[in-house]
Order: sequence, then C-alpha cells, then structure tokens
Amino acid sequence: MNHFPSDFTSNFWSIFIAGATLLGILGCLALLWISGKTQAMTAADNTTGHVWDGDLREMNNPLPRWWVGLFVITCVFSLAYLYLYPGLGSYGGSLGWTQSGQFEREVSKGNEQMAPIYAAFASKSTEELTKDAQAMAIGDRLFMNNCAQCHGSDARGSTGFPNLTDGHWNWGGTPEQIHETIAKGRTGVMTPMAAAVGGADDVRNLAHHVLSLAKAPHDSVRANLGRDKFVACAACHGADGKGNQALGAPDLTSGVFVHGPVIEAHIVNMINQGKTGVMPAWDAKFTPEQMKVLTAYVWGKGGGVAGATPAAAPAAAAPAAAAGNDAASVAVENGVVKFFFATGKADLASGADTALAEVIAGVKQGKKAIVSGYVDSSGNAAQNEELAKQRAFAVRDQLKALGVAEDSIELKKPENTDAGAGAQARRVEVSLG
Ligand code: HEC
Ligand code: HEC
Repeated sequence: MNHFPSDFTSNFWSIFIAGATLLGILGCLALLWISGKTQAMTAADNTTGHVWDGDLREMNNPLPRWWVGLFVITCVFSLAYLYLYPGLGSYGGSLGWTQSGQFEREVSKGNEQMAPIYAAFASKSTEELTKDAQAMAIGDRLFMNNCAQCHGSDARGSTGFPNLTDGHWNWGGTPEQIHETIAKGRTGVMTPMAAAVGGADDVRNLAHHVLSLAKAPHDSVRANLGRDKFVACAACHGADGKGNQALGAPDLTSGVFVHGPVIEAHIVNMINQGKTGVMPAWDAKFTPEQMKVLTAYVWGKGGGVAGATPAAAPAAAAPAAAAGNDAASVAVENGVVKFFFATGKADLASGADTALAEVIAGVKQGKKAIVSGYVDSSGNAAQNEELAKQRAFAVRDQLKALGVAEDSIELKKPENTDAGAGAQARRVEVSLG
C-alpha cells in the first residue's frame, strides 16, 4: 500500500477511519443484541397494549430468525472482508491484494496472449509488415493512443509537429532512422542566429535567400544580397541548404516547413528566435515488437524511404513497387529524356547534363524543351501532385542552369498524368517540341 506518498503526514486519519468503521459494525451487532434482550411492556395477549382505530393492536413478536441470521452474516462478512482485503484505513489486508498488482497480472496475461502474434511479426521486414492487416491494425491503435495528440490522427502533423506522411524527414525516413527516432526521441535545436547574421536588414535579405532556396516567391534583389550570409546557417543546414539529418536540421530547399509557412516573417522569426523541438523517447513504454510494428506503421504512411539494407526482403522483391527501386536515375529513350526520382524526393539523378545534351542542342536550333511531370496514383493525391510539380521545377531549373532561356522551356501537364504507381510514376519527361 505504501507505493504512493499519502496526503496525510500522520496515522491519525487512518486510525480514525478504521476505528469508526469497526465501531459501526460492532454497534450494529450490539443494537441487535440489545433489542433482542429488551422486553417491551407486554399485555397478557403478547401485544404492546397499544390500540388504534378501535381494534388495531401492535404485536410484540421477536424479529424473524432468518432476518437476524442475515444481519449477523452481513456483519461477519464485513469483518472478514476487512481482514482479508484493504479497507480499514491504511491496513493492506492479510492477502496482500492491490489494484496495481491485479493490473500488472492482467497486463502480463495479455502480453502472453499477444506473444505468438508478435512472434509472427518478428521475422517480417518493415515493408512486409505494412502489408499485414493485423500488424497495421495494432500499429494504428498504438499510434492513436500515443502519437496522435501531437502528430494528428492522420499523422499529418500541424504547425510545430511534423507531418509523417509527406516524405520530408528531418531525422531520416528509413525504417532504421524512424525506429531510432521513436525509440530514443529527438531534440532539434536551432540557436538564435541573428547576431551571427547582422542587422535586421541582413536578416530579411537572408530570409529572401532562404525563400529562393525553397523556390518560393521572393525578392531576388534581397535574396542576392542575403546569399553570402547563409554561411552562418551552413554548419547545420549544409552549404546547399539541403539540411543534415544527423542534427535534425531541415532541408530548406524542400519548400516544406514544420514550424510555419514558407514566408519571410516565419524565416526571420526562426533566425531571430531559434527553436527547440522535442520528440519524446518511447523505448521504455513499448516492447521491441511494438516498436517494430509502430515503425512499420509510420514508415508505411506514405513517406517511408527504403532502408540502407533492405532488411529481410528477398532480393527479387516486387518490381518497382512503392518504396523499392528507389534511387534517382535518368534515361534517354527515342530522344525523350526521362528523369526518375526517389520516393518522396525531387532531387535529380547525376548525369542530367549528358542526358540533356540532345535537348539543349534542339533548343539552340529554335525548338522548345517540353517538361512534363507524372503523378503517382498511390498515396495522397494532393501531395503527389505537388511533388510532381516540384520535380518538374527541378528539371526546369537544371535546364536553366545549363543555359536554356526560360521562354524556351514549356511546363506541360501530360494528357494522362496518372502514371500508376512505382518508379514509372515518379518520372518527369523532357522532349523537344
Ligand atoms: C508531445 C508531442 C509528441 C508526441 C506524443 C509524439 N511526437 Fe513525434 N515528434 C514531435 C515533435 C515536436 C517532433 C519534431 C522534433 C524536432 O524538432 O525535430 C517529432 C518528430 C517525430 C518524427 C521525426 C520526423 C522527421 O521529420 O524526421 C517521427 C518519426 C515521430 N515524431 C514519430 C512519432 C511517433 C511514432 C509517436 C508515438 C509513439 C510520436 N512521434 C509521438 C512531437 C511528438
Ligand atoms: C545549430 C544548428 C543550426 C543553425 C546554425 C541554423 N539552423 Fe535552422 N534549424 C536547425 C534545426 C535543428 C531546425 C529544426 C528545429 C526543430 O524542428 O526543432 C532548424 C529550423 C529552421 C527553420 C524552420 C523550418 C521549419 O520547418 O519551419 C528555418 C527557416 C531555418 N532553420 C533557417 C535557418 C537559417 C536561415 C539559419 C542561418 C541564419 C539557420 N537556420 C541556422 C538548426 C540550425
């Protein structure tokens, strides 16, 4: 009973309550005994002698035996119960029963029953688990009870709490990285940086440079002025602004922010105030099997990135399915340059320059470069559209970087944008027109 500190500092109330309880029960028995002994004034005919309404008389019968018996049994039961179980002040009862003990017994019984179910999960890879309906149902319950209050019941997050479905990861989206995030927790720290940047105007200029990195609307004069100031940020966000997952420093070029909108005011605020974001650690709360299921649930929400070692997945795994076949690449087929992208990413594969050589030659002859992005039909439609757009922009920017004038580039939606799922759906084509 003494697991928890009592509200009371002395035994007084415990003894008082125990005493009052016992006296109450003993008092009941005494009352019964006394009333059995006491003789009311009795007339010769065994009535009390009172007469109402002319002929209504009160009998002086003893209490029925069954009633007295029940009364005594009740009192004896109470005393026995209070001896065996907690109830008398702080006395814990001779059986040593506690609520928390019973709870723990029930939990371990539940765990025993779940063990064979979890054992079946142990041999499965993260990707296989995402296809196991039972595992995902368990993952869903774990997520709703433990994660949804911060990340939302659809795992899409909100300001300050990252969206776990969009393929943008501050700490990495492979099964191993997600597992580590959940198990150990994460603390992302950005120190206030204004002092390192300069005056208020320098901070604004830098903010516009960051907007330009994010391909968001910006003032290009300010962005140019602010470019050099980015050295203050490069230690964490990288010289190219693409972030550092070891520090949880976001990719500022992604156009997806967690802490606010992609606008000057938010970036200025971040530079001036800094930010510390804390994701709590969960390894003390979950069993390793639960951690595995939860990791697969989060990974399978749409943003997961293929792991460094594709776990236990057989080598000839599903062709180009959701997260498989994930490296960015580029190919030229019949004069059409096809850029394939990694899941959730808009980064171009290396070798773009060589692949685009023919297109660039065509543009020099006065043709137009037509850039079309295809949309993945699996997962969230709006996000896939946005991603297809970002990928098309990345290709356009690459063309511009290779000296193609903006008015020679045409961004065109393909007739049939829905390209199914898999690697084919994550492509942008460049052709001459
Ligand atoms: C108290 C609020 C809170 C709860 C509860 C919470 N998280 Fe988080 N989580 C955060 C915050 C805040 C971050 C961002 C940390 C940072 O600043 O980098 C985060 C980050 C993450 C990330 C990393 C995202 C990235 O971009 O790399 C994952 C994965 C994650 N949480 C999963 C979970 C799971 C699974 C649970 C439930 C077991 C959970 N979180 C419960 C607040 C929470
Ligand atoms: C000490 C490392 C560090 C430095 C230096 C740093 N940052 Fe950050 N920055 C971070 C981390 C970590 C986060 C994520 C904070 C979090 O989620 O808790 C972040 C977040 C941000 C965000 C918010 C993105 C969002 O999701 O809303 C912006 C904008 C940003 N940084 C811009 C800058 C700029 C501009 C500079 C240079 C003046 C800079 N940072 C310097 C580590 C750093």
